[in-house]
Amino acid sequence: MEEPTLRVADRSDAPELLRVIRAAFSARRRVDPPAEALADDLPDIERALDAGVGVVAELGGVIVAGLLIDISGAVATLRRVSVVPEVSGHGVARALVGGALTLAADLGARRAELFAREEFPELIEWWRDHGFVVLGPAPHGVRMGRDLPVIRDVPTADDMLDLGRRLSRILRKGDLIVATGDLGAGKTTLTQGIGEGLGVAGPVTSPTFVLSRVHASLGGGPDLVHVDAYRLGDASELADIDLDETLAQSVTIVEWGSGLAEWLADDRLEIDIVRGQAGDTRTVYLTGIGPRWAGALDNLREQA
Ligand SMILES: Nc1ncnc2c1ncn2[C@@H]1O[C@H](COP(=O)(O)OP(=O)(O)OP(=O)(O)O)[C@@H](O)[C@H]1O
Ligand SMILES: [Mg+2]
Repeated sequence: MEEPTLRVADRSDAPELLRVIRAAFSARRRVDPPAEALADDLPDIERALDAGVGVVAELGGVIVAGLLIDISGAVATLRRVSVVPEVSGHGVARALVGGALTLAADLGARRAELFAREEFPELIEWWRDHGFVVLGPAPHGVRMGRDLPVIRDVPTADDMLDLGRRLSRILRKGDLIVATGDLGAGKTTLTQGIGEGLGVAGPVTSPTFVLSRVHASLGGGPDLVHVDAYRLGDASELADIDLDETLAQSVTIVEWGSGLAEWLADDRLEIDIVRGQAGDTRTVYLTGIGPRWAGALDNLREQA
């Protein structure tokens, strides 16, 4: 299936968004009391779009998914997260929510929250897989939340080294970093900055012929384990290099680790590097998953 196109909804999308919300929520198992979403009417959606933000996902020019974001201070609340049943299970929800979290961060929010019904443990699990943790009970369900990604513009390779050095100050033994980004995006450059900041034996280079390199700490800090998973077929090949043996006393960074390295630790820092439209600029998205990272990136956020 093609990738959905995401965009911010405007007021004229309200009828289509309402159709998508109704389709998604009426496809769920009946619950008592019924989902509030089923009582939404057009003025409700228009009001929500006026007061907050909506995001829609389109396939072939047709809206197939959408959600509403209410931003209040540092907290962005996601509501009405809806995918039409015909396209569910194709990653549309993942793309929609990923886009919404980035947008909320761009709009200045630091945390995302949402409500999930207790009758749908599979949905609660889905949100957990996307970095949300249960914050506490709420009527008929739970409130869930997570930190939003820290977004940094990185104009040059030197700035990428600098970001790595700054990041190194908050890293400690046991940390796992999963780095993603196209060929030449700057994953290794960032790792070099981290290595410098940690004060480990260098040089940190692209591990082209070796899968993994251990850079021992020159002081008393963590070692740096630098892995390139580009040529790895699946997670079992990553398991073969016994990273769990070095994990506890090291900072472990896995390039191309997305979808392969997550099982290594419950908590992880996901770093996604995206090339800009022009020149050397990169945009770096840093997302802490799990309790280890709650609030940990706030200093980095301040420096943005
Ligand atoms: N803003 C920038 N951030 C990072 N690197 C930059 C930037 N601008 C230019 N560069 C250059 O881009 C290259 C990035 O290469 P690097 O090996 O770090 O990427 P990578 O993501 O590790 O690639 P690979 O997927 O091959 O492992 C370097 O030559 C670096 O000097
Ligand atoms: Mg690299």
